[in-house]
Amino acid sequence: MVLTERFPIFMSCLSQTKSTSHSSSIIHNSNLTPASQPIGHVDHGKSTLMGRLLYDLKHVSDRDYTKLARDSSAIGKSSFAFAWVMDSTEEERTRGITVDIATNTFSTARTNFTILDAPGHRDFIPNMIAGASQADFAVLVVDASTNAFEAGFGSRGQTREHALLVRSMGIARVVVAVNKMDATSPKWSRERFDEVKSQMEAFLVGAGFKQTNVSVIPVAGLTGENVTRKVDDENAAWYQGRTLIEELDASEPSARAISEPLRMNIADVFRGGVTNPLSISGRLDAGNIQIGDVIQAMPASETAVVKAIDLDNEPVDYCVAGQIATLHLSDIDPVHLRPGDIICSPANEPIQNVKSFTAKILAFEHVTPGWVDVHRGRLHTPAKVAELLAVLGKSGEVEKKKPRVVKPGSLARVKVVLERALPLDRGARVVVRSEGSTLAAGLVESVDV
Ligand code: GTP
Ligand code: MG
Repeated sequence: MVLTERFPIFMSCLSQTKSTSHSSSIIHNSNLTPASQPIGHVDHGKSTLMGRLLYDLKHVSDRDYTKLARDSSAIGKSSFAFAWVMDSTEEERTRGITVDIATNTFSTARTNFTILDAPGHRDFIPNMIAGASQADFAVLVVDASTNAFEAGFGSRGQTREHALLVRSMGIARVVVAVNKMDATSPKWSRERFDEVKSQMEAFLVGAGFKQTNVSVIPVAGLTGENVTRKVDDENAAWYQGRTLIEELDASEPSARAISEPLRMNIADVFRGGVTNPLSISGRLDAGNIQIGDVIQAMPASETAVVKAIDLDNEPVDYCVAGQIATLHLSDIDPVHLRPGDIICSPANEPIQNVKSFTAKILAFEHVTPGWVDVHRGRLHTPAKVAELLAVLGKSGEVEKKKPRVVKPGSLARVKVVLERALPLDRGARVVVRSEGSTLAAGLVESVDV
């Protein structure tokens, strides 16, 4: 897929209570946004589930929903009415698939969430990578209906690739929504749920998730059963666990890097507003920004002044790591700002443009020296795997120096030379792709400027 300029992302990992008092100190700010990203094979029902969640939590009015139901039915796609809450472009609606990531926010009594609805189609995996790079936890949607789970989980399916990518991007927690439980045979089949659950748990633990960070919840997004309300069906009497929303709400907040050097990923650049001629939006990975701060855009190395800040379209004085913010800027030429660029502070360990790096990677396919594309969030550039330094054992020890090839499933250390310098930190998560498939994902261990 081609990266589009519109970039919403779905999940980040802070679950913060809304009830704590709002302190004026940045460090004690409590109104953070956890974001989450639904991922999974094409057509497994991600958009429908997110649309249902928003409708049941009254973030979509009855009037708007009635219109979506009428319009979708007019083109013979009535089963997509909830998906259309998330899928808003004409292409998405007529084809019945998600193309770009859509963001939306919702709140429970405890938490404000930002959701990112990611596409399942394999052509759009770069959008998924961009989404996952902003997410705190992932909701992995799998279709429990006959043969559908197997199609997603098979070697050509997206379920495995998405789960591996999400893990490699640093997301530690995943909620598996076993969807379409109304369409198993018989409906709400306990046997089917147990089968999908045990396969998913074994796979995710094998992929590096801790068992305690994986939960599996049966749902039917279309009917709304066990999404925000308990399922009321005698076939489902066996299930006494949480609803999806209860599970999301129970996710523990994770510590945010609020006092670390500023890092913000630009998702969107807006030009031409009357009061704010130049604005950017994106998620703060680390640090904080206040009105009046001088920031630096990388790779351009140009500075700008923050004139105003919005969170959820409301003006605020500051924003912190974990939040998705809009910054209104002055004193910079817009040519220096592009989606995927990184904002840092010129005064506090600004990020450097690097020409090459070594990374510890998990190979999904055979990796040999040669041309690839390196993705870091929305940024991507042609690059060369210049050297295979070593194959590593499970705990990172060198098993074999200078291998000729890295086999799928192996860990390795490789040296990568970029065609154009990119802003990268040690510890950054990168994905290595070639000709539309993901070769490897990994962690940057050292950088050369
Ligand atoms: P992509 O974004 O293209 O990857 O698809 P998606 O995972 O977002 O799936 P989407 O929500 O577009 O739904 C695909 C089809 O599955 C639609 O026809 C939905 O009506 C149907 N569907 C979704 N959820 C359920 C469910 O809980 N039960 C049943 N029976 N069908 C469902
Ligand atoms: Mg979708």
